[in-house]
Amino acid sequence: MRVLSGIQPSGRLHVGNYFGAIRQHLRLQHEVHERFYFIANYHALTSMQDKALLEALSLHVATAYLAMGLDPEKSVFFAQSDVPQVAELAWILNCVCPVSMMEKGTSYKDKLAKGLPANMGLLDYPVLQAADIVIYDSNLVPVGADQKQHIEMTRDLAGRFNTTFGCEVLELPEPYIIPEVAVVPGTDGQKMSKSYNNTIELFATSKQTEKRCKQIVTDSTALEEPKNPEQCNVFALIQLFATPAEAEEIAAKYRAGGFGYGHAKQLLADMINDDFAAARERYIDLEKDQDLVRDVLREGGRKAREVAEATMDRVRDACGIVKNR
Ligand code: ADP
Ligand code: TRP
Repeated sequence: MRVLSGIQPSGRLHVGNYFGAIRQHLRLQHEVHERFYFIANYHALTSMQDKALLEALSLHVATAYLAMGLDPEKSVFFAQSDVPQVAELAWILNCVCPVSMMEKGTSYKDKLAKGLPANMGLLDYPVLQAADIVIYDSNLVPVGADQKQHIEMTRDLAGRFNTTFGCEVLELPEPYIIPEVAVVPGTDGQKMSKSYNNTIELFATSKQTEKRCKQIVTDSTALEEPKNPEQCNVFALIQLFATPAEAEEIAAKYRAGGFGYGHAKQLLADMINDDFAAARERYIDLEKDQDLVRDVLREGGRKAREVAEATMDRVRDACGIVKNR
């Protein structure tokens, strides 16, 4: 059983990324599976075309994963672009992919609605993601709920390849989505996302985290009034960090009155700061040793390329692309 996931280095990591995806990636390290995790820098290029920023954010995401406990002995951790075979496989999959399938992409349509220019990379994004997944014979893909369609497209494309060339070369993966954290709200109550400027960053200082939590939008119920925790953005976030018993205790305070949103925000900031204190310290240490981070990626890339090249030999052979080198 092989688990694989990727994360785009298109912004600084936030609480939504953590509960939607990263926490599952780290937890799966303790299961018996084989794990492949990568920094999806080719994908980030579809929406972010700034050399310095892409370089810096790629290192940020790699450093953050290591700081949060990704163990390179337990997982193959690498940069997508260190396995250029995925771009080759994406091309081959493009040739069995109907244009109409990509035009139905909800993530593509959302990005256009947000004003991103419709480049071919953006349209073709799911085909590259499918290549990422099938090139490592991945079985399980832990992602946030918004990625479900991309996994369905991957299964569709792998099936089309196998049928077109009468082979069983590509594995069909399953998504792994935790329903209760399907969508983490941001400071404005919408889905937390770097493109909405409503994120609470994982690797900020305690002060910055407090400031950000104070900006969470709430209604104007007065401090002494009883409040409904189910309708509060702050409580939705608290629930992610608290144990069920702690969450129940805080919900009771909301309902009793005399507990203001300011109190709730401070409580949330304290929870985030406590939970990430150790990871933030490790992050600061790793920032001073970026060569170590690069070494991890280099070694991961080497292992990933070996698996990818073996798959590509089967793929090329199945579709009549002769290797003369
Ligand atoms: P963003 O929305 O900030 O651009 P990405 O699209 O890069 O984040 O998401 C990276 C991973 O984090 C994906 O697996 C995605 O499903 C998950 N994710 C991002 N935002 C959220 C959120 N608000 N709630 C749950 N999961 C999320
Ligand atoms: N599209 C994913 C996201 O935005 C990132 C990604 C790229 C990915 N390739 C992948 C996730 C392969 C899982 C598997 O979060």
